[in-house]
Amino acid sequence: MHTSLCDKLGIELPIFAFSHCRDVVAAVSKAGGFGVLGAVGFSPQQLEVELNWIDEHIGDMPYGVDIVIPGKYEGMGEVDPQKLEQMLMASIPEQHRKFADKILADHGVPKLPEGEQAQQLLGWTAATATPQVEIALKHPKVKLIANALGTPPEEIIKEIHDSGRLVAALCGAAKQARAHQAAGIDIIIAQGTEGGGHTGDVGSLVLWPEVIDAVAPTPVLAAGGVGSGKQIAAALAMGAQGVWTGTLWLTVQEADVPPAQMESYLKAGTRDTVRSRAWTGKPCRMLKNDWTDAWEGPDSPGTLGMPLQFMVTADAVSRGHRYAEKAKDVMFNPAGQIIGHINQSRSVRDVMQELVTEYVESVERLQALNG
Ligand SMILES: Cc1cc2nc3c(=O)[nH]c(=O)nc-3n(C[C@H](O)[C@H](O)[C@H](O)COP(=O)(O)O)c2cc1C
Repeated sequence: MHTSLCDKLGIELPIFAFSHCRDVVAAVSKAGGFGVLGAVGFSPQQLEVELNWIDEHIGDMPYGVDIVIPGKYEGMGEVDPQKLEQMLMASIPEQHRKFADKILADHGVPKLPEGEQAQQLLGWTAATATPQVEIALKHPKVKLIANALGTPPEEIIKEIHDSGRLVAALCGAAKQARAHQAAGIDIIIAQGTEGGGHTGDVGSLVLWPEVIDAVAPTPVLAAGGVGSGKQIAAALAMGAQGVWTGTLWLTVQEADVPPAQMESYLKAGTRDTVRSRAWTGKPCRMLKNDWTDAWEGPDSPGTLGMPLQFMVTADAVSRGHRYAEKAKDVMFNPAGQIIGHINQSRSVRDVMQELVTEYVESVERLQALNG
């Protein structure tokens, strides 16, 4: 399954793994794939700590960093992170905060200890993601910066290119892929609706070849619903240069996931996810639960735009992690439909080996058809 992109990045297998956990990122790169750390939830200072840790544990392998600069969000244009946060804070209706609090109170989820406060404005604005890029570019083993939810600003693309790295961007439609290509993006990630996290509404089987044809010869990674070597074979058969995966790594032994959340993931079925704006304000695939139902229900004040909705829900995310057992029915569990095929926690190495074995079996099956 070695593609030309593997040579460009110095990796053995074109299996890209998105994760917020540094241990997963290092383990995937060490197993021959390409780990990508999701930076959105880290302050620049925390990101520096995570990247230093990865540098120390990844050997000579390369890895990537993923940022989120949406094409559209509330407060766009303000470049000072503090001013942006103050401005946004002032525009959050009290009824949204009360509604979120009530859902947690009804489920008996305790408040955070006195003095502890969740970070409300994450890295998903140009103002807050730009300092993350500065940090990432100080780490030589970071060979790729990926952006979600839009084409990154011209100056960010230039800065990454000038440092000798590649830029990737996710998309959920061919039109977005063409815009990425026109802006000079090196790798386009086509994510079908079945994928976990923010996602569009076109299925992978339709989207992947559409994007591959639309932007050829720009390399495309196939994302959304990849959980086995069978799907990798399908993606490469369509002309993808590799696969970009996320859900597969939520349940690995290296993942930093509270036991109650791990249980929710392992017992979820293929039909237990929903595309909802209830946590972030943009359509995001996650496990359906009492929280997603409540925001869809008759008492809901409706969701706010990005990043306002998460400024309301950040406290609930932190309380969910800290009190995972009590919060298990109202937690933020981003996951794709492939979660239904994952029923046990395994090591990154085992998952990678199985992907390769299944891929080889699939290719052999096709070769047998040719006589
Ligand atoms: C828990 C979770 C969080 C995610 N957060 C981000 C993110 O911050 N940035 C991003 O580019 N993609 C994010 N994604 C999407 C992944 O990068 C990837 O495209 C997606 O998981 C692929 O589909 P799959 O889940 O079916 O493997 C997230 C996915 C999951 C499961």
